[in-house]
Amino acid sequence: MYVCHCAVVTDRDVLESIANGAQCVADVARQTGAGRTCGNCISSLRDLVCQHCPVRAERGAVEARELEAEVELGVAGATR
Ligand code: FES
Repeated sequence: MYVCHCAVVTDRDVLESIANGAQCVADVARQTGAGRTCGNCISSLRDLVCQHCPVRAERGAVEARELEAEVELGVAGATR
């Protein structure tokens, strides 16, 4: 499926870019050329990076564990 029509970049191209180390939309843009013309594909690029980047996934898992720990300790929401 085409993600960026301007640069003719597919979701497979984006996933390959992530597999090659891209960790953000800017990395994907540098590697594939996507997102540099009209910008209409940026949200799709962001979604793919967020869903498939292992670094981001690990960061999200750590944040989720920290939030769970805060909830268990009764810290979360204490300042709300
Ligand atoms: S659709 Fe990606 S820059 Fe235009």
